[in-house]
Amino acid sequence: MPSIDSHLVRLRDVHLAFDDTPVLKGIDLDVGKGEAVSIIGPSGSGKSTILRCLTGLLKPQRGELTVAGTAVHELHGEADYRQLRQRVGFVFQQYNLFPHLSVLDNLTLAPRKVLGMPARQAQEQALALLAKVRMQHKAQAFPGELSGGQQQRIAIARALAMQPELILFDEVTSALDPEMVGEVLNVIGELTEEGMTCVLVTHEMRFAEDISDQVYFTEHGVIVEHGNAERLFNQPTQARTQAFLRHAGGESARRRAPQGYVLRNLSPYHLSV
Ligand SMILES: Nc1ncnc2c1ncn2[C@@H]1O[C@H](COP(=O)(O)OP(=O)(O)O)[C@@H](O)[C@H]1O
Ligand SMILES: [Mg+2]
Repeated sequence: MPSIDSHLVRLRDVHLAFDDTPVLKGIDLDVGKGEAVSIIGPSGSGKSTILRCLTGLLKPQRGELTVAGTAVHELHGEADYRQLRQRVGFVFQQYNLFPHLSVLDNLTLAPRKVLGMPARQAQEQALALLAKVRMQHKAQAFPGELSGGQQQRIAIARALAMQPELILFDEVTSALDPEMVGEVLNVIGELTEEGMTCVLVTHEMRFAEDISDQVYFTEHGVIVEHGNAERLFNQPTQARTQAFLRHAGGESARRRAPQGYVLRNLSPYHLSV
């Protein structure tokens, strides 16, 4: 059994209700350091709620929740939560870049103000991150001048600029035109390959299968099934998982990579399809 130190995220029997409506009903989930873990499942099943618990934005009523060595269920003061959120990057469907700031300033603002990074260092870091997301040519542009896919790549760079210990991605390509999906997923794929710890909620099944170490399938606030990505996608044991995967566009659609996304882990099985 791995020591607790090798786990960046550990949820045990996490319960959360909004008013009297239970939304998470006993979630167990582990994310090892350097792992990519995907959460899939129907809309309303609690996926975003799980991610919001990881950043302390939502507080479960019951259960244990450890993130990067912090027992989140034991936090009290707002300062503790703020500190937690600095260590956990979060990228949403909506990019929420500051519209009145240049791309470069979007990337340097929080490291300077929150981490106290010297301006010059923040700028050097920003330029390196822009190169990583292939946006260095837009350093001086304003968000409104960029496509959705470009803005989302900047949002990823902005999250990285805080040097987080893990990054959460919540359906980051759902609002994008199909031709922009690949450029964003390729960036995320590279991050996972470099060993960035990531938790992803995504509807892109072939992408999730390609990059994830572990996949969790949620429904009605419970984990129905979880396991190694290749096993879960190709041999789901639960009828609910099987039905969901069938529903997710059918076998052939599920096997198709998102437009522009370059598969990184072609198994022999997939090569023959
Ligand atoms: N702030 C909230 N107040 C009340 N209900 C909420 C709130 N946020 C989410 N819910 C409900 O919790 C359930 C799970 O939501 P969510 O985690 O967003 O699901 P998913 O991300 O899987 O689509 C849904 O039924 C949703 O309506
Ligand atoms: Mg959601």
